[in-house]
Amino acid sequence: MINLEICLGTACHLMGSEEIFSSIEKLPKNLRAKIIVKGMHCLGACDQGPNVRLNGTIYHQMTPLKLAELLAEYGGE
Ligand code: FES
Repeated sequence: MINLEICLGTACHLMGSEEIFSSIEKLPKNLRAKIIVKGMHCLGACDQGPNVRLNGTIYHQMTPLKLAELLAEYGGE
């Protein structure tokens, strides 16, 4: 499984974390099935948002496209 934590804290929210969150729904079903999504309050890197944490590793300045690519890698697709 892929543990995906998306920061929904104020700073990341202002930088578009909601768009990141909703992009998960548009992923292929088989990939989505492998992801456990959790919203976080702050990942401690507010100036580099939006931030996500994937299986314990923080990735900064996330975009829906970047995330889709990363998740495909993590999911072995
Ligand atoms: S609000 Fe997202 S890292 Fe702090």
